[in-house]
Amino acid sequence: MKIIGSVKELRQAIKAEKLQAKSVGFVPTMGFLHEGHLSLVRAAKENNDIVVVSIFVNPTQFGENEDLDAYPRDLEGDQAKLVGEGVDILFYPTVEEMYPQGYSTYVDVEGDMTGVLCGSSRPGHFRGVATVVTKLFNMVAPDRAYFGQKDAQQVSVIERMVKDLNMDLEIVPCPIHREADGLAMSSRNTYLSEKERKDALVLSASLFEAKDKILAGETSAEKIISGIVDKISTVDYAIIDYVEIVDALSLERIDTLKGTILIALAVKVGKPRLIDNLRLEV
Ligand code: PAJ
Repeated sequence: MKIIGSVKELRQAIKAEKLQAKSVGFVPTMGFLHEGHLSLVRAAKENNDIVVVSIFVNPTQFGENEDLDAYPRDLEGDQAKLVGEGVDILFYPTVEEMYPQGYSTYVDVEGDMTGVLCGSSRPGHFRGVATVVTKLFNMVAPDRAYFGQKDAQQVSVIERMVKDLNMDLEIVPCPIHREADGLAMSSRNTYLSEKERKDALVLSASLFEAKDKILAGETSAEKIISGIVDKISTVDYAIIDYVEIVDALSLERIDTLKGTILIALAVKVGKPRLIDNLRLEV
């Protein structure tokens, strides 16, 4: 696996592959890799001649009071995992390489899509995501890029951006990878104490319970949401950021459950703010 830190070198390496008509699969990450990330790498490996993974903890997508400095990092461990998966290129730029002095250009996906869910509690977050992903796409020029449904809103925002800006690549959404007991895998799970790790199970459990109710015929978003809130509130120190049900495509809030819906939540369990969601055809 080639480890590359500079944009210039990355371009050269990818140009050489493209000259041989090789297809490029790309998995952008912030590192501290777990099986969820690796499931994207495996999907990329399956459908492309070469796989590029980036690890960059992107400062522009973190708010002032968020965990940028504390964000977990383990480059050596990550490298070993990526070598194990047969990744061809690891792009690992510095903040200066990505945002040199004088940097002034941002990509904003405007409108409802970024005003709900994580967009309302993390202002500027999706602007940072859209900006860094655009830059990475320009650098890697992938044929396909892989994103996890764990960050469902991120997938929708990126798909919108790719369409709006006529970017020439395919976005491939991949299913949420969970621990055996249901907890959605996340780099931030590492912040959880043993007790919090156990209590954090209410997040996925409340979503699975909601799914059962909907499949049994419940169509009121309000009732489903209050059931989820009640269940999460059994953990007395959990702080709910949001529990919302939206149309999976437009991300517009809905009252009556119909079509493809997305039930999404964000909850602080001790130190970390965890997100989870469930997509469902009603
Ligand atoms: P990060 O949180 O490191 O996630 C990288 C990719 O892995 C994202 O597409 C995310 O949805 C996916 N992922 C994380 N946990 C997953 C899980 N349990 N199952 C399936 N996929 C999972 O998302 C980001 O980084 C950043 O915002 C980034 C896109 C790299 C831009 O900075």
